[in-house]
Amino acid sequence: MNRILVTGGTGFIGSHTVVELIKAGYEIDILDNLYNSKYAALDKITQLTGHRPTFFMADLCDAAALERIFAKNHYDLVVHFAGLKAVAESVAEPLKYYDNNVVGTINLLKCMQKYGVKRIVFSSSATVYGQQPTARNQETMVTGVNLTNPYGETKHVIEEILKDVVDSDPEFSATILRYFNPVGNHPSGLLGEDPNDIPNNLMPIIMKVASGELSELKVYGADYPTRDGSGIRDYIHVVDLARGHVSAIFHMRPGVNIYNLGTGKGTSVFEMIAAFEQASGRKLPVKVVERRPGDLPEIYADPSKAEQELNWRANLTIADAMRDTLTYLNNRPKPLLAMLGRYTLNLNSTTSPSRMM
Ligand code: NAD
Ligand code: UD1
Repeated sequence: MNRILVTGGTGFIGSHTVVELIKAGYEIDILDNLYNSKYAALDKITQLTGHRPTFFMADLCDAAALERIFAKNHYDLVVHFAGLKAVAESVAEPLKYYDNNVVGTINLLKCMQKYGVKRIVFSSSATVYGQQPTARNQETMVTGVNLTNPYGETKHVIEEILKDVVDSDPEFSATILRYFNPVGNHPSGLLGEDPNDIPNNLMPIIMKVASGELSELKVYGADYPTRDGSGIRDYIHVVDLARGHVSAIFHMRPGVNIYNLGTGKGTSVFEMIAAFEQASGRKLPVKVVERRPGDLPEIYADPSKAEQELNWRANLTIADAMRDTLTYLNNRPKPLLAMLGRYTLNLNSTTSPSRMM
């Protein structure tokens, strides 16, 4: 199993995973329409690995383009990241999300079936759990109930489609990875989260406040029944997440197998803010506002299945993620940091930075 097609491979998680896959010895082709990523990611991947993946600028909704790629190239496996992920936009434009994520995946699966590609690793999300009786989510829990947005529905529907495809073809295997909250970036600062869309996730918003693009960080609720009143999530360093894919491919089993990729530990919004401030030595402007509709008080992974079956666990810390985020922020072109000037790593930080800027 050597040649892999990575859809969405120039995106945030995809690009980090491509780096780890190349380092593990795989030959990688990337398919992306660059809707939410940049061609420059390929240069960064090349710089970090010494290998330049073949790149297909193509849209999963363009069945003819997919057909041309699969007709000319043989793949042993597909890692499928490509999708839209802006939750608020999915509420405003549900059909765009069902079309891009679900129809795009069906097109991909049809090509895989036609050209005999029998393995897929799919990027799902903790969002499929919805509200559960406990904050610690296990893969055996019932999913897809009372999901609050079309984005989450698309992830649930694709999981169900994959189960049906495997049922129809015993030679087809699907590994479904449910990511918790990816943060951080490559420690070189070359790769990171650089969305073309408007972010709604905490870490990209912290970055925009730090860079002066946003004037303040709104904390969505400080009255939750949690240890400090703010929401608690399982933030996983994207490099750990990327390595989870390498383990998932190495230990791939027949049938459908589902794994949580998270740390197993919850961190509150206030703790995330404190960690960023500790790493940077600067205060972030923060305002507590109303709860965000659809938010849960607390959710984190039970990662024990991935630990046992994939021999994988998250090793990097929130402090590592904050250090790498600062490196990335400082590497980004002006005028992004023009308002606040360059950040420096806080030498009193509990982190021990591997490089100084
Ligand atoms: P991203 O937007 O950075 O990457 C997705 C990539 O897919 C982008 O490069 C985009 O241009 C591409 N793409 C989208 N639609 C496409 C299409 N129709 N054809 C070809 N390319 C297309 O997002 P990410 O954070 O790297 O997320 C990757 C995957 O992980 C997504 O499926 C996302 O839903 C899932 N996920 C992300 C998170 C998160 O918080 N980042 C959490 C859980 C799950
Ligand atoms: C959100 C989505 C989820 C999606 C996931 C990854 C919602 C309701 N959920 O999850 O469907 O799978 O992103 O894309 O949108 N926060 C603030 N201020 C901000 C931003 C966030 O206080 O400006 C808080 C939130 O209230 C939450 C925590 O930070 O407590 C994390 O939020 P976020 O990064 O958006 O992730 P999720 O809510 O876990």
